[in-house]
This record gives sequence, structure tokens and C-alpha cells, in this order.
Amino acid sequence: MNKIRAAITGIEAFLPDYVLTNDELSRMVDTSNEWIMQRVGIKERRILKGEGLATSDMGAEATKKLLSKMGVKPEEIDLVLVATVTPDMAFPSTACIIAEKSGIKNFWGFDVSAACSGFLFTLQTAAHFIESGKYKKVLLVAADKMSSITDYTDRSTCILFGDAAVAMLLEPTTDEVGVMDYILQADGSGKDSLYLKAGGSLKPASHATVDAKEHFMYQDGKTVFKIAVSKMADVSVAMMEKNHINADDLAWFVPHQANLRIIDAVGRRMGIPKEKVMINIERYGNTTAATIPLCLWELEKSLKKDDKLILSTFGGGYTWGSIYLKWAYNSK
Ligand code: UT7
Repeated sequence: MNKIRAAITGIEAFLPDYVLTNDELSRMVDTSNEWIMQRVGIKERRILKGEGLATSDMGAEATKKLLSKMGVKPEEIDLVLVATVTPDMAFPSTACIIAEKSGIKNFWGFDVSAACSGFLFTLQTAAHFIESGKYKKVLLVAADKMSSITDYTDRSTCILFGDAAVAMLLEPTTDEVGVMDYILQADGSGKDSLYLKAGGSLKPASHATVDAKEHFMYQDGKTVFKIAVSKMADVSVAMMEKNHINADDLAWFVPHQANLRIIDAVGRRMGIPKEKVMINIERYGNTTAATIPLCLWELEKSLKKDDKLILSTFGGGYTWGSIYLKWAYNSK
């Protein structure tokens, strides 16, 4: 009997209505459209506005759209996994909250914290559950409300991030499609280069942590930039070599969207022509866990069964890696 693999069988997204443009940012901090376009490649990003709205609200909206599109009842979902660094709260998990808001009852699940690698780490976790043969319908939500941990007085970070959520359904298949291979890695020596300083058990929230703006994400951009290029390129090349894939065989390279210059440099090192590199950073910015699935959602209509995709990411931790995916269906 053929091996059971995990196939993505449906995908939906939620994007907040509010569009934060470079012009608006230029009125908030000392920056310009030219600087942002040249150094990062972002034109605009979406921001979730509204009192009491959280990551779970975006995740639940994407989930409800997905279930309705797929004709899947909430009670058919047996596992819910959520990739996020902006959970609604430290606990309960955002997986529990999204499930509750979406009417999903017969399930268990949890959140995965792997920063910008959250989607790939969660996709592989979902794949392992499905490959065990026990799970038939796994809901994966990749969602971040990055605006909740962004300092809009810091020009070096506030231009980068946006909010979004993507929900996808994973199901078992015995066809030669789905999650084919993975290389995922982590290195905790990067913990001080990209992180949220306070609000955890190390530095619980206090007047002092608020005054010092330690509840906003911090990054040493230059250091992260260099390591991101080399790790993403190395791991993607290794994945292609391991699976005997060349640039001609590949339908799409789908990289994490943190900086257009990182994406271009990685694509060049891999020898992938520009037209095969999926890029949408100009419209959404860095949505952390949601960047790669947002690309897949936008590509969905043009993807065909058996298309070979290499996904690749780098993020806080450090965490990084690549997944080789064969698309499982032709879009209706
Ligand atoms: O997703 C997780 C992983 N994260 C990443 O992969 C992000 C990696 N890092 C980056 O993408 C880039 O390092 C940044 C986009 C964050 C920054 O770009 P950079 O080219 O590395 O700029 P820089 O930090 O070296 O700053 C260069 C100059 C500085 O001015 P001086 O010191 O040369 O006078 C900054 O103060 O640019 C200045 N600057 C800005 N100027 C206008 C920094 N941010 C801005 C800004 N507008 N928004």
C-alpha cells in the first residue's frame, strides 16, 4: 500500500480592510515611500482595527470561509493547529479560541510558536499527525496580528509588518502529492536578535516594561538579514538536491516575505528565474506566520495537481527550513 501523505485540500484567507500605506507611515515616523520600496519592497500592509479584535477573530473568519467553501462541517475537524506569535493571550491557546468561534467541538489542538517559521513548523506537525493514519481532517490556521506588538514610533520595524490569517484543510492521500519532504532547523543562539522582551515569565508586565516599550517586537535587522539569506538559500538548495529537483521542474519557489532583497538574493543563489518566485510582500508586508500561506492562497487558482513547490523560511529563534510540496488538486 502507498504511504499516507498529508495534502492541502483547501485554503482561505482573511485580510483586514484597513490599508496602511507608506504615505501614512511617512506622516507617523521619519521615513519615505522611496526608502521603504528600495530597502524592503513593501507598498502597503493590512491592519486589524477595532476594539476587542484579536488574532483569533481573523483566524475564525478564515476558518468559517474555508469550511463553507469545502462543504466541511465543524464537527468533522479532528485536530486544530495554530501558528502564531501573537496569541490572543498566553493561555488558553488560540487554537481553542478559534475552534470555539468557528463551532468546532470534537477536536483537540494547540498553538505552535516558531515566529516567521510558524507555518512550516506547523505544516510538518500536521503532516506527521496525518501520516500516523489517525487524523482525517486537520485544520491549520496561520495568523498574526503583528500590529499588536509593533511600535509605531520606531521607523526600523513599524514599516515591516502587517496582519492576516490563513486557514487550510489537510487530509490524507495515498497519491504521490502533498507534503513530500522537510528540512526544519532551530538555533537558540539567535534568541537575542529577534524577540519580544517582556510579557513572559522572564519579565512579567510592569509599569517599567511598558515605559521601556518592551512589549513591542525588537530585531537586530542587519544581523537577521544576513543570516536569513544564507540559511534560506542553503536549506532550499539542499531540499532541491535531495529530491533531484531543478529550476525547470519547479512550478514555484514560495519564500517567507520579510524583505524583497532577501527574497531576490535567495532566488538568485538557488538559480530560480524571477517569474517562478512568488512575491506579494508589496501588498501585505511581513505577516509572520501568514506570509507563505497567503502566497499559496493567491496562487491557488493557477496551481495544478502535481505542481512542485519549494517553501522556505527564516525567523526568530532562530528557526528556519524548507518543505517540498506537490500540489494536490486542480482549482475549480
Ligand atoms: O521575518 C523575520 C526575519 N526578519 C527579517 O528577515 C528582517 C531582516 N532585516 C531587514 O529586512 C532589514 O535589515 C531592515 C529592513 C530591517 C532594515 O534595512 P537595512 O537596509 O538593514 O537598514 P539599516 O538598519 O542598516 O539602516 C540603514 C539606515 C540607518 O540610518 P543611518 O544610521 O545609516 O543614518 C537607519 O536609521 O536607514 C535608516 N532607517 C530608515 N530610514 C528611513 C531605518 N529604517 C528606516 C526607515 N526609513 N523606515
